Amino acid sequence: MAYHEPVLLDSVVQELVSDPDGIYLDATAGGAGHSRALLESLSCRGMLWAVDRDPDAVDEVRSSLGGDRRVVVKRASFKELEDLIFDSSVDRFSGALFDLGVSSHQIDAPHRGFSYRADGPLDMRMEGGQGPSAADLIAEATEAELLQIVRDYGEERRAMSIVRTIVRQREEAPIETTNDLRRAVESTRPKMLHKTLARVFQAFRIAVNGELDQLAVGLQAATRHLCIGGRIAVIAYHSLEDRIVKQFMADRMRRCICPPRLPVCACDQKPEFCKVGRGRIRPTEKEIENNSRARSAILRVYERIEDQK
Ligand SMILES: C[S@@+](CC[C@H](N)C(=O)[O-])C[C@H]1O[C@@H](n2cnc3c(N)ncnc32)[C@H](O)[C@@H]1O
Repeated sequence: MAYHEPVLLDSVVQELVSDPDGIYLDATAGGAGHSRALLESLSCRGMLWAVDRDPDAVDEVRSSLGGDRRVVVKRASFKELEDLIFDSSVDRFSGALFDLGVSSHQIDAPHRGFSYRADGPLDMRMEGGQGPSAADLIAEATEAELLQIVRDYGEERRAMSIVRTIVRQREEAPIETTNDLRRAVESTRPKMLHKTLARVFQAFRIAVNGELDQLAVGLQAATRHLCIGGRIAVIAYHSLEDRIVKQFMADRMRRCICPPRLPVCACDQKPEFCKVGRGRIRPTEKEIENNSRARSAILRVYERIEDQK
């Protein structure tokens, strides 16, 4: 089975690569689909950093691209990017890609515990055995913390009743497998079972991996090290991620940071970034038909036009 089918592949390459001799960062290398296509559009002087926090992804990228001397493969999370760059001889990238969320390999491997569709340990950790698993989190979090996770990260309207059921069930027996969590959600009899299960599993995945905090820190590191004319491309798969990307970049596109009561601008602020194109790029119907995981993808691309102050 393929490790992962890359989403919006042509648009990413077309919008991101402006200098074939440049150094590019793929911060979410996964199954190397985007990395491979980026490399194909680079010259022999170009270079690609292929980075992922998941050891399975790093093995996959090494085995498929490791022979290409233009590639540097590293295991690191977004929070570790700044240190990784600091410790290298690279200071500026010509482009950076963030293809957020999980790969098909992560979802499809029952032992990783990301999916409600197959039974397995309720793990969900992207970095192998590091930190508490979803089962640990469900065992140890207070009811209020669980509610915040399911409501805020799953955007689930019936969060309260689902969390009460989880809390009642964990008092009887620990929730240790994906089927245990699935049965707890099912017993609340949601009308749209699959959508509710997807939202609840997404919520715990985001919490276990600190995904939203990671994203903000990763964007900070990548944008800081883009050269003028360099671009950042981000593919988000749900509104929580997309909101963080839009807000982060809006702050860097502002022309004025004066308090609203000032009659005339006095800040001399220059926008650091501009949007590339009209805003969001979505997959075609045909791509969605061929790859259902493209369904919710939104690609945004920005270009550095001014150095950081
Ligand atoms: C949608 S997949 C990327 C697929 C890849 N673009 C391809 O073409 O195969 C997302 C990848 O991002 C990685 N990832 C998610 N959050 C991360 C983070 N905070 N730091 C580093 N990697 C992360 C996941 O481990 C996963 O492999």
